[in-house]
Amino acid sequence: MPKIFHIITYGCQMNQYDSSALREYLEIRGHKWTDDVQSADFIVVNTCAVREHAQNRALGRIKGLVSAKRKNPALEIGIMGCVAQELGEKLFEKIPELDFVIGTDQIPVIAQIADGTIARGIFVQTRQNFYGVESNAHINSGRVSSFVTIMRGCDNFCSYCIVPYVRGRERSLPPDRIIAEIENAVANGVREITLLGQNVNSYDYGGLDFPELLEMVANIDNLARIRFVTNHPKDFSEKLLDIVEKYPDKIPPAFHLPIQSGSDNVLHAMNRKYTSEQYFDIVDSIYKKFPDAAISTDIITGFPGESEADFDATISAMKRVRFSGTFSFRYSVRQGTAASKLLDNVPNDVKIERLNRVISTGLEIAEEYSQNLIGTVQNVLVEGKSRKNPGKLRATAPSGRTVLIDENSANIGDIVTVKITDAKIWILWGEYP
Ligand code: 5AD
Ligand code: SF4
Repeated sequence: MPKIFHIITYGCQMNQYDSSALREYLEIRGHKWTDDVQSADFIVVNTCAVREHAQNRALGRIKGLVSAKRKNPALEIGIMGCVAQELGEKLFEKIPELDFVIGTDQIPVIAQIADGTIARGIFVQTRQNFYGVESNAHINSGRVSSFVTIMRGCDNFCSYCIVPYVRGRERSLPPDRIIAEIENAVANGVREITLLGQNVNSYDYGGLDFPELLEMVANIDNLARIRFVTNHPKDFSEKLLDIVEKYPDKIPPAFHLPIQSGSDNVLHAMNRKYTSEQYFDIVDSIYKKFPDAAISTDIITGFPGESEADFDATISAMKRVRFSGTFSFRYSVRQGTAASKLLDNVPNDVKIERLNRVISTGLEIAEEYSQNLIGTVQNVLVEGKSRKNPGKLRATAPSGRTVLIDENSANIGDIVTVKITDAKIWILWGEYP
């Protein structure tokens, strides 16, 4: 019996990618997607464990679904993603009504459960050779922009981070599979691809490194734009910058390069393997080649032992780098990580107060970044109609900023050249010159 299914997704772009790949995987087996959770008889929640808050949100949602199941016992509810991998068996103790718990390397099992060919249960074995379900998730999606995973897992063991424990060892996908997936996406109308990995700079397939892969992707016909996340400063290379420079129309100089903290003491305790000076050297080499580069970051406030002076170093680093965007997080203890053994000694109100200072500094410098674009000419990719601004099209600048332009003669998927006439923090206005 085909299932009517829905997938609820929390967390990072990797989870979004896995969810859309799973959706396609179930659809080609005859199961029917519904946008409306209420009408589904098979619901999968794809979860994030990176911070306690994210984990609690997903678990809260599942508990809500479970109460619906009491009224409709035929409803099947399962959990996948990082929380499933992390808690495994314990989830059945916490929520006995769950039908299945699927670890990060076991996604295809969900199709067998939906098909009814295997019994429901818990599947959390790790598989080093699992590359994700084969996906052409872009087909018929009508999307201009899409994700493609190039590597899974992480070997960095930043001391605060649970990802290496739940997503397993780093593995790079074969380049022919990546290229075929992108060509397929392009043939189906996709114009922009974002290459995904926890640390794309350590991509290595039999000696083929990330800059080499990026160059292969840049040579795919009809692909308008390539982005990539996330970069790790310890593996970032001049060779990568050379490739970005070689394909100026295809690869925008936009780098998500998380600094996490501006203090060398804290960076060391976080096991990030670079100093603030080394980070600044990378930033200088980026701005030297690309003066208008968009460099964005993640920052954690209140890591164990972070003093006021450590925190001040973070604020100064933000101002020195002039980040175009900042994602900031209050430190959250994750069981099993190296940092969980440190005394979580920054009081919660201090963590929050520091978080607020990072947020306001981040907004100030992001606004400056946008204001500086006024008067410049930018090639923007038209993504669709703006929902909030009738008569306007929503496009993205090389930096990643949204640009609103008149509906004029541009088509969705076009790259058009516009002059920036006005800017708010996250939105620019462009006019045909
Ligand atoms: N607490 C707070 N933030 C965290 N991150 C990862 N682990 C934690 C944690 N335990 C943040 C980092 C990372 C981003 C994806 O999430 O900044 O870059
Ligand atoms: Fe976590 Fe560090 Fe790996 Fe990023 S690089 S996923 S922060 S361990």
